[in-house]
Amino acid sequence: MIIAIDGPAAAGKGTLAERLAAHYGLPYLDTGLLYRAIGRLAHDRGIDLDDAAATGAIARALTSGDLARDDLRGREAGELASRVAVHPPVRAALVDFQRDFAARPGGAVLDGRDIGTVICPGADVKLFVTASAEVRARRRTDELAAKGRDVDYARILAEVRERDERDSTRATAPLRPAADAVIIDTSGLDRDGAFAAAVAAIDARR
Ligand code: C5P
Repeated sequence: MIIAIDGPAAAGKGTLAERLAAHYGLPYLDTGLLYRAIGRLAHDRGIDLDDAAATGAIARALTSGDLARDDLRGREAGELASRVAVHPPVRAALVDFQRDFAARPGGAVLDGRDIGTVICPGADVKLFVTASAEVRARRRTDELAAKGRDVDYARILAEVRERDERDSTRATAPLRPAADAVIIDTSGLDRDGAFAAAVAAIDARR
């Protein structure tokens, strides 16, 4: 069974995808990590993030070691990722890797922005996990504050909106639900509620 999970930044996709993978005994690929690693490498090498050819070359040479870096999770890497993710050569270089992962025997869980629409249009189940920008910004602010970081809700909200705008308006593989995706709005749900809604949707479809 292939489970495709898409949605905007900070909607809780990653946590949910990981939990679903454990529940169904499937391998999990966080495809955002691929774009984050490319953004980081381009930044380290002083490459212009708007240079489609140069960032595409980085994407084609990506190794598993690049994905194991410990500086891919934060907001800065997310921002770099979203800038390189607009380039068709970057996206094209990552297609086979993602499809091969999805084609593992037994299936897989993949999360990202274009899994149900581009990477795995034939996925058995497609979930589009979303929440209002305000709720996502509030969650992210609380998460960072819990880690002792000094954060400003208004600034995080602006960042969330900016990333939504870039991810949904780009010409190649824009963020949008597949026609046959089940929409899960987590605005009023906690983690357990989101998990229960996802399991119900998956079990109903498979
Ligand atoms: O999901 P995550 O926040 O790690 O993704 C970082 C950025 O990478 C996203 O904002 C998006 O621009 C890009 N991305 C993408 N397609 C994917 C996964 C991530 O364009 N499948």
